[in-house]
Amino acid sequence: MKQLRSDARNRAHQIWMPSKEKQPQSRRTHRISAQDSTWPRRELRGPTSKGKLPRMSATWLSRPRTLRTRWNGLHFQVPLLAEVYGIEGNIFRLKINEETPLKPRYEVPDVLISKPSTVRLLSCSTDTGSLVLADGKGNLKCHITANPFKIDLVSEEGVMMSINLLGQLYFEHLQIPLKQRTTKENEEDASTDTSQQNQEDLGLWEEKFGKFVDVKVNGPASIGLDFSLHGFEYLYGIPQHAESHQLKNTGDGEAYRLYNLDVYGYKIHDKMGIYGSVPYLLAHKLGRTLGIFWLNSSETLVEINTEPAVKYTLTQMGPVAAKQEVRSRTDVRWMSESGIIDVYLLTGPTPSDVFKQYSSLTGTQAMPPLFSLGYHQCRWNYENEQDVKAVDAGFDKHDIPYDVMWLDIEHTEGKRYFTWDKKRFPNPERMQELLRNKKRKLVVISDPHIKIDPDYSVYAKAKEQDFFVRNHEGGDFEGVCWPGLSCYLDFTNPKVREWYSSLFTFSAYQGSTDILYIWNDMNEPSVFRGPELTMQKNAIHHGNWEHRELHNIYGFYQQMATAEGLIQRSKGKERPFVLTRSFFAGSQKYGAVWTGDNTAEWSYLKISIPMLLTLNVTGISFCGADVGGFIGNPEAELLVRWYQAGAYQPFFRGHATMNTKRREPWLFGEEHTRLIREAIRERYALLPYWYSLFYRAHVASEPIMRPLWVEFPDELETFGVEDEYMLGSALLVHPVTEPKATVVDVFLPGPNEVWYDTKTFAHWEGACTVKIPVALDTIPVFQRGGSVVPIKTRIGKSTGWMTDFPYGLRVALSTKGSAVGELYLDDGHSFKYLHEKQFLHRKFSFSSGVLTNSCADESGHYPSECVVEQISVLGLRKQPSSVTTHSSDGNDRSVAFAYCARKATLTLEKLSLNIGTDWEVHIK
Ligand code: NOJ
Repeated sequence: MKQLRSDARNRAHQIWMPSKEKQPQSRRTHRISAQDSTWPRRELRGPTSKGKLPRMSATWLSRPRTLRTRWNGLHFQVPLLAEVYGIEGNIFRLKINEETPLKPRYEVPDVLISKPSTVRLLSCSTDTGSLVLADGKGNLKCHITANPFKIDLVSEEGVMMSINLLGQLYFEHLQIPLKQRTTKENEEDASTDTSQQNQEDLGLWEEKFGKFVDVKVNGPASIGLDFSLHGFEYLYGIPQHAESHQLKNTGDGEAYRLYNLDVYGYKIHDKMGIYGSVPYLLAHKLGRTLGIFWLNSSETLVEINTEPAVKYTLTQMGPVAAKQEVRSRTDVRWMSESGIIDVYLLTGPTPSDVFKQYSSLTGTQAMPPLFSLGYHQCRWNYENEQDVKAVDAGFDKHDIPYDVMWLDIEHTEGKRYFTWDKKRFPNPERMQELLRNKKRKLVVISDPHIKIDPDYSVYAKAKEQDFFVRNHEGGDFEGVCWPGLSCYLDFTNPKVREWYSSLFTFSAYQGSTDILYIWNDMNEPSVFRGPELTMQKNAIHHGNWEHRELHNIYGFYQQMATAEGLIQRSKGKERPFVLTRSFFAGSQKYGAVWTGDNTAEWSYLKISIPMLLTLNVTGISFCGADVGGFIGNPEAELLVRWYQAGAYQPFFRGHATMNTKRREPWLFGEEHTRLIREAIRERYALLPYWYSLFYRAHVASEPIMRPLWVEFPDELETFGVEDEYMLGSALLVHPVTEPKATVVDVFLPGPNEVWYDTKTFAHWEGACTVKIPVALDTIPVFQRGGSVVPIKTRIGKSTGWMTDFPYGLRVALSTKGSAVGELYLDDGHSFKYLHEKQFLHRKFSFSSGVLTNSCADESGHYPSECVVEQISVLGLRKQPSSVTTHSSDGNDRSVAFAYCARKATLTLEKLSLNIGTDWEVHIK
């Protein structure tokens, strides 16, 4: 280590590291040397080696990386600068960059919500080769060793994480293009280098993908680092993959790939990247949850290898293997094609601490407008205004609530977004008035590709202002998508975003009204006939950055600009709703995400659960999967089961591709219509609970759909569960995802818990698996003892009709006879909850026979005439002799009640207790 110094001014601790070449002749040099024939090349291969389709361009990872940079036969030494920061909330940041790169390397902007507030790290002890940094409280320490370079993150319990323990830190430094090197160098080159070496070097500078050649102007620039997580076996995160919730070992050479791609009918149980990326994973063990957020938006691979907790070794006693307890460890290796190493280490200790730490960096889930929590009806395409009218009427005719009608690309004039096909939709305002009268909304699609057509004003204006991504020759990048030859808006440019946002104003967007919201699709970006159906990596963005640097964040920016546009068109008053297909870390701030082009098969229904759980733990709570499966024709049973599952997932939309049979909920016979109606109505009955969960996600970073391990972090049995989940902390949902199921095995966690079937009110003690008989109308949902769930007792045509409908409270008693819960409510659409504190936040608690409604947040006020009309208390063992209500105005009343001893359930009906005032119900 050349120098070791702490910089108190910016509170970073900088470590001047020797270049890779100067690392000791330890295994690091040995491991990553092109000359070493023992180098296990397979390890560095991207999934290309498996011949997967679509073929991947990740050949930058298919080559052994030369740590020694050879020019002219000389070994260059390029120093790296490592900085360690302490960030408020028990977060460490490690940043490694070339000390003096040839030109700046890309550092991902706009993802962190603010410059993280650093805390002073105290250096406890230092000698020439090491440094110990401690946070203010001294609970967490960072032990940095110079030679070999290694960082240990240490808590009171010992080392939690080691960085570069395996010596896999690498950093390909930027180089001067071969052509530009001096003649002298070239002469030397000729004398000292071998032609084989030249070819090897050249190969690293250029990659071929079909007819595409990707030239790397300053040579290969990839980076990588390993993290060893001590005692951890369970990892989650790094969406988006159609894979299990728990991350799998990648020992077979298949790394998880983070590269946003349009993959129609993606394969399931695959580590191939699909539409979005969040380069963030969580590791969990008993007593500790950690997070690693690798802030890099270029193509990234993640390798995971868990050493089991138990090893078998041969003993001297003979051939019998003896069990030896050892501490498990999981090694995670991150590799990115370019950029810098900028990694945030979230130290927990609890899952909820890690959620807060992550959202303190990237923001929380946006508070959605209430309508968007209702059911959405989509299809590619609803053909015309009459079609929309008929489908809308169909919902009313069949008494099925729904909130939003969706129009796909065919609603436009030749796929020119912001326009209407005049034949199909001659009067879009009239159509929106029809929906408005039903208190419903419209969502239309707006993709990032813009048809090349000088008569199309969006194209012409963008062209005039140089707002498109450029190709590396300096012209506009042109690619084919739905409209034919198109250009792609460069959303990474703040000016482009500002202009794009302005396109949503009512005057600019002819035919739009304030009930119209937006869907951003194809924003990976999807480029038909492009390499892997996306943009060439050497396309050029604002600031002269190559597309390779920021590929994974392109869609994030489009959703950001769209959300901003919707806010602006309302002059800052209304909450936007924007659904996006592509996303990145932090997309939760701008709206909702869905899982793209799934297939109408049972396996896709099943995998929607782990896929959504993964999104939820990485901050994106507002997510869903196309109900019914986008591709193909679901049979009635699958469709019903999908509606039942979707009703309990945050974003609830039915969608189907072109040329599939129509599948509006009433087209499968009366019985199936009834079942779908029931599922959707269940969703609407629970809206107060959903909305309150979104509020918690928004203000307290709590995921909405929670894997069991999040709610039961001390129960090992929960760590691998992914066929059921908690909705908030009160409901356990186990959707039926098998055909012809007559029974499902439901695991009810918690030795001290009691669980109630939400329909039959039957109850079970926790820490067991129960066999629940299921018919086609069963959605296995269980309420946790100790919780109060607010519901609506009547269902309307849409959320808008239900504003004044009464509430019900479902009180499920714990083993100790108590329960707590909450309700958040506001106007459901504006920012007044934020700017004017126009909201109500109520708290319900039950203990010693008294149910109390009190204020949870004194700062909020909202006039609501709504009443609680029904209360059920589950798990009440003794028949009460009297029930009285006591309100704050001194109005005490005795109320009628019904008690069912068999079900241990008390029901109070026809109450009239104002939701927003304090009151008590005494049960004696
Ligand atoms: C692809 C999307 O994933 C799908 O939902 C949409 O219907 C089509 N594009 C057409 O816009």
